[in-house]
Amino acid sequence: MAQAGKVTVVGAGFYGSTTAMRLAEYDIFAEVVLTDIVEGKAEGLALDMNQSRPVEGFETKVTGVTTGTDGSGYEAIAGSDIVVITAGLPRKPGMSRMDLIEVNAGIVRGVAENVARYAPDAVVIVVSNPLDEMTALTQLATGFPHHRVLGQAGMLDTARFSHFVAEKLGKPIASVETLTLGSHGDTMVPVPSRCTVDGAPLSELLTDAEVEELVVRTRNGGAEVVALLKTGSAYYAPSAAAARMAKAVAEDSGAVMPVCAWVDGEYGISGVYLGVEAEIGREGVRRIVTTDLTESEAAALAEAAEAVRAKQADVQNL
Ligand code: LAC
Repeated sequence: MAQAGKVTVVGAGFYGSTTAMRLAEYDIFAEVVLTDIVEGKAEGLALDMNQSRPVEGFETKVTGVTTGTDGSGYEAIAGSDIVVITAGLPRKPGMSRMDLIEVNAGIVRGVAENVARYAPDAVVIVVSNPLDEMTALTQLATGFPHHRVLGQAGMLDTARFSHFVAEKLGKPIASVETLTLGSHGDTMVPVPSRCTVDGAPLSELLTDAEVEELVVRTRNGGAEVVALLKTGSAYYAPSAAAARMAKAVAEDSGAVMPVCAWVDGEYGISGVYLGVEAEIGREGVRRIVTTDLTESEAAALAEAAEAVRAKQADVQNL
């Protein structure tokens, strides 16, 4: 199999480094670049990953680079087809993602400006929190067309929902399909009407109260992990989701995934980054894919859009 193309992961924390490792193990890229501001960290992790190549059997080369606040080191990302931005602080127990907005806005803006300078043709996948706002900020700071900047959240939230449903019903994970839309936060909109187990609607298998319990656990899925870890936030499921999005871009696959994307009229909502389903290809978002929603799901999505819109207006000045 021929490896082609270059993908960069900015930030070598747990989220960034596991994303880089998954991308390398796909063995489809010529090069994975991992960057960090901590001297030597990305280089050390890259060396370690490269040494796993004979064991895992992949040809992709991993390059680690230390970057400076002056933009030094960023020349290593030149020509990247895809950039995954994980830079920023994670939550501590008791914090909401929104508590990170000021500090992460400064970090993400600086990264985005360097991405625009050194990888002007890249598709950018943002995972820094608060997710919807950092995705909007990245589009503003890069000046890239909206379809080339998207955020990872729906894949993760949907994965959590599916896991909880499979666990509750004692079913294989492959039998379960779920969907979440809206924000990666308090206005996340799990869509029970689109959830099935072996093709049967979830509403035939669980009571409304049981579904609601799983919905609430999904909405709090990230916080539940943070509370257990006590330092840092989740990274195995998040990195799996981000890496799959990057793979869909690299392979121009046309896969339909729940992502944070610019919405322009779909569901009667315009001018905001929001969690929706989208067809993903080489150019990023090919198109938003809409689905039939119940009245209450549609109302919850509209409410999520307005909550995110208000916060996205704030980040312009951060
Ligand atoms: C989570 C963080 C990564 O949901 O947003 O785990």
